[in-house]
Amino acid sequence: MLQEKITELSAEIDAFHTDNAQELEQFRIKFLGTKGIIKDIFDEFKAVSPEEKRTLGKVLNQFKQLAESKYQSLQDAAAPELEEKNADLDLTLPGEGFEIGTRHPLAIVRREIVEIFNKLGFVVAEGPEIEDDWHNFSALNFPEEHPARDMQDTFFIKKDAEHGDIALRTHTSSVQVRMMENGQPPFRAIMPGRVYRNEAISARAHCFFHQVEGLYVDEQVSFADLKQTLFYFVQELYGEGTKVRFRPSYFPFTEPSAEMDISCTICKGAGCQLCKYSGWVEILGCGMVDPNVLENCGIDSKKYSGFAFGMGIERIANLKFEIKDLRLFSENDVRFLKQFKSALI
Ligand code: PHE
Repeated sequence: MLQEKITELSAEIDAFHTDNAQELEQFRIKFLGTKGIIKDIFDEFKAVSPEEKRTLGKVLNQFKQLAESKYQSLQDAAAPELEEKNADLDLTLPGEGFEIGTRHPLAIVRREIVEIFNKLGFVVAEGPEIEDDWHNFSALNFPEEHPARDMQDTFFIKKDAEHGDIALRTHTSSVQVRMMENGQPPFRAIMPGRVYRNEAISARAHCFFHQVEGLYVDEQVSFADLKQTLFYFVQELYGEGTKVRFRPSYFPFTEPSAEMDISCTICKGAGCQLCKYSGWVEILGCGMVDPNVLENCGIDSKKYSGFAFGMGIERIANLKFEIKDLRLFSENDVRFLKQFKSALI
């Protein structure tokens, strides 16, 4: 029975010819498809007696090969036709564009800052964002209950008898402490990172932002070293001819302390809205590391001295890119982010 059927169908396959793609596809479906004749025959074959299977198995395989090779040869014959169709393709047309992403403006600026200080021999160090009271405040010479702690509105996480309060760090100065506790001078490091302050979110303030801290401790480090280092940094970042000035200020962990202004990057000192017509904009806080801080970290303050500085990356980026609203940095609006093409990959 099955044998006859196969002979009949083989004759049909032998006789089949077409140069029409649709007919060829129908042929394929009819014989070779998942619900096709060959599949049916193989199913029937399962019910056949074992003796018959021996002879029929071979016949069946030949039949399957016949269908497959017929299909293949007709398809090969149709191929030149396909090539002709492809000849209509215009391969000189531009391809589909492949757009690569862009770096976040804060990442661009952070990297630039890091690279400038790398040239001066500063290494990069990091510390945790969740800090204890000692590293964020006490070691940095903020006395207990001292109003200086209120200079920065802190997000407290929990009270801890052993380590004091646990909080989100309010500045990267905590990393200075960690660095000095774990070694001996010379230290020459910059410490970029995210910091948190409990402030209402607006165009000019956010509950988190980014800082880069700098620390240089060695024998005979002076305020002149601080000035020259920061002067060089500003020339590299904003271009030669950018002026700097230092104003006396106060931080518990530096003495003396200063704030550094640069000549306005927009109006070059002539006066504009950004610099509130003063010609100057503030970019960082700095000073000589207070001897108490050195001692708190196990460093001999008679032998060593150092300077430290801290700047907000958002502030530096604002001056570079003229971004007026801080919130843009964390909203991740692609239309905003796409505007910052960096030469650095
Ligand atoms: N930690 C200070 C701030 O967040 C900045 C600073 C760092 C000042 C180091 C002096 C020295 O405002």
